[in-house]
Amino acid sequence: MSVVSFKHWLLPMLSAWLLAGPVLAAEVNLYSARQENLIKPLLERFSEQTGIEVNLVTGKADALLQRLKSEGRNSPADLLLTTDAGRLHRAREAGVLAPVESDTLHERIPAQYRDPEGYWFGLSVRARPIVYVTDRVEPGELSTYEALADPKWKGRVCIRSSSNIYNQSLVASMIAHHGVEATEAWARDFVANFARPPIGGDRDQVLAAAAGQCDVAVINTYYLGVMINEDDQEQREAAGRVAVFWPNQEGSGDGRGTHVNVSGIGLTAAAGNRDNAVQLMEFLSSDESQAWYAQVNHEYPVRESVPVSDTLKAWGGFKADDLDLHLLGKYNAEAVRLMDRAGWK
Ligand SMILES: [Fe+2]
Repeated sequence: MSVVSFKHWLLPMLSAWLLAGPVLAAEVNLYSARQENLIKPLLERFSEQTGIEVNLVTGKADALLQRLKSEGRNSPADLLLTTDAGRLHRAREAGVLAPVESDTLHERIPAQYRDPEGYWFGLSVRARPIVYVTDRVEPGELSTYEALADPKWKGRVCIRSSSNIYNQSLVASMIAHHGVEATEAWARDFVANFARPPIGGDRDQVLAAAAGQCDVAVINTYYLGVMINEDDQEQREAAGRVAVFWPNQEGSGDGRGTHVNVSGIGLTAAAGNRDNAVQLMEFLSSDESQAWYAQVNHEYPVRESVPVSDTLKAWGGFKADDLDLHLLGKYNAEAVRLMDRAGWK
């Protein structure tokens, strides 16, 4: 064999090997503020289908954002998965996310559930309606979030604290619809109706209502979904004492729809595995993944065509507020200051 023909034989082999190398080591690094059990099975399915390994780091939402900020350009993370449009917006403002252009994501995810410039995409929808104790409240007494400020609800309302982003986003949505002044006036009267200083999470509001401390609460429905399907008898019984009321539907005063929010994902500015990361984003928006969210965590899919769990079906359909959710981020700081002024602890 001459040297020349050896070279001709070796070069294609070498380049084939070099090309195969990265495929074998294909991976994507995901920082997730969602619990491992709420995301891991989906990631495993993604790896089976694509051969791309997902390295998962889970943590608290604010801690993960802080970590991304301090790691900066050296961050190993390709993707940030977190809850609440307010937080996703914060991540964008902090400069840790990069925009993504994807026809698939644009087709699958309605415009109001994603950042207008592609910095984050909603993957599951969570609704924050009113729940009421069926023994003490008739659904006909309820209508809107605004109406919960009526003096007839004095001492009867349970809701968690204003430090919680879900409430900040609810108030931000009202600022977007009514402006600061009207929302502040509402918040003062609403706070005056609280049965107790805010304490605990959304589940605790249901427990308090069931125990007779209050008659209505404002919560994310997936907590109730989990409680209904819980092994723990106290939680199950408490959930059985309340029913869901969808506020702000047509014909009940302000019919803009019930407040909703998303969990979502964004590509990091430091992403070294960009293509794999976008593939994972697209996978998480697929019908298969969407159905999983709606079955396992009782959240709503971003598309109405995807089937939901029996628990969700039992609460009936509702009209969701179609506000562009990036506005929840835009008005977050305003909402926090407003709640403070209104005495919402
Ligand atoms: Fe939550």
